[in-house]
Amino acid sequence: MTDLETFKQQAAIQAVTHVRSGMAVGLGTGSTAKYAILEIGRLLREHKLSSIVGVPTSEASAQLAIENGIPLAELTAAGVEVAIDGADEIDPNLDLIKGNGNALVKEKLVEFNAKLFIVVADSSKLVGQLGEKFAVPVEIMQWGYKATLIQLAAVAPQVQVRQHFKDGQPVISDNGNFIAHCTFTEIKNAREIEDRIKHIPGVIGTGLFLGLAKIAYVAGENGVQKLKR
Ligand code: A5P
Repeated sequence: MTDLETFKQQAAIQAVTHVRSGMAVGLGTGSTAKYAILEIGRLLREHKLSSIVGVPTSEASAQLAIENGIPLAELTAAGVEVAIDGADEIDPNLDLIKGNGNALVKEKLVEFNAKLFIVVADSSKLVGQLGEKFAVPVEIMQWGYKATLIQLAAVAPQVQVRQHFKDGQPVISDNGNFIAHCTFTEIKNAREIEDRIKHIPGVIGTGLFLGLAKIAYVAGENGVQKLKR
């Protein structure tokens, strides 16, 4: 395993220590959240956890959870006790950019409705200000998308429909929508940007996760750091 994979695994395993038997757990998406799913599966197999219900944030995570023996359920009115997920960027307030894996809408729905949302990452995901490295993904309806892109371009300097590298075809989310890739040179006021984007008709949700994560486990050369909001 490369160092990077080890860091992702270490952060995820630390987050799983918050999971107790009987909990509904939000299962994130991506190459870091994967290790939390694997760890929960291992603990269930070894009878160190029981009666867990996983609420997956994507079809990929649902599939991985099934392969690892985690019973699944939809999000209910009760929400989830704990949600564990990765991020593309983590700022000093634990505000996040997420959705590079195109699962942002279900991720935000589950993590907003979590009593405790823990973000897990390797240290390359830490930034001083959101937007430093990653674009903000915005899920938009396919219907009328060209009009929606024009409205988004009034907020973000560069906007394009996310495409597959292989064939240039538009990426379609699990929910059947397009993802607009909104690149900023800097995001000084993420809340204002979030408000402006959310008010554009045709927008389903943004990859700005503001005020949601309570804890971050971030792993690097110096071990796993616990950050709190
Ligand atoms: C999925 O849509 C994303 O929000 C991921 O959680 C995020 O992109 C982090 O993914 P990695 O852990 O693979 O970097």
